[in-house]
Amino acid sequence: MNAPEKLELIKPSIEYSAQYLAMVDEGIETGEGYGYNNVELAREDFAAFVQELEDESQGIGLPTGLPAQQTYFLLKEGQMVVGEIRFRPAITPPYEKYNGHIAYNIRPSQRGKGYATRQLALVLQEARKLGLPFVTLTVENDNPASVRVIQKNGGKLLQTIENPLKVQVREREGRWVVEDVKEAGVTSNLYLIELASPQ
Ligand SMILES: CC(C)(COP(=O)(O)OP(=O)(O)OC[C@H]1O[C@@H](n2cnc3c(N)ncnc32)[C@H](O)[C@@H]1OP(=O)(O)O)[C@@H](O)C(=O)NCCC(=O)NCCS
Repeated sequence: MNAPEKLELIKPSIEYSAQYLAMVDEGIETGEGYGYNNVELAREDFAAFVQELEDESQGIGLPTGLPAQQTYFLLKEGQMVVGEIRFRPAITPPYEKYNGHIAYNIRPSQRGKGYATRQLALVLQEARKLGLPFVTLTVENDNPASVRVIQKNGGKLLQTIENPLKVQVREREGRWVVEDVKEAGVTSNLYLIELASPQ
């Protein structure tokens, strides 16, 4: 039997700029786009992009109400960036329900190989190290592949919410503010993955 491919989570770094941008380009070429991060900045100045993500992970410069978010790249065999995952360890109850702790994506050409499942499992290890008793994730509308990824990591559907509120960052009179915005026509499925049994 072949050994499983080596997959690891790495912090964003300039070393992988070409690989990361290749993943972004692939998303755009397939017509799906790449709306997960500040990719304009990534193209203009990758070092500044890395610094922005590092600040975001420490909660530096974020509008009040927006939780710190850690971004990891999923690196295959030490060379190819095949996915990205965002983890918000400390979220407040409304954010827990409407946005969740974790969001992810896999490069279109690399899907269907179990990478999203393994990527989520790797972030759950980080969440366990921090002592989180559970994480929540939301899946919008019909996304059976993502539902499967969550189920394969032990996730259970908690609630289905029509027209959910989403915490979004908006510009108001030259300032960034955090607002709850109702997403009409969206069905949000809230999943929970238990990391520790209740005492
Ligand atoms: C969702 C996503 C991350 C899945 O990535 P992936 O690497 O292909 O996922 P995996 O290979 O680990 O697992 C996918 C599972 O879904 C199943 N699946 C895929 N398409 C499916 C479909 N249309 N219906 C039912 N199951 C499906 C696969 O068979 C697999 O399950 P299995 O291992 O039991 O066979 C990827 O499609 C993606 O990046 N989509 C765009 C971004 C996105 O939707 N992110 C999640 C937001 S909630």
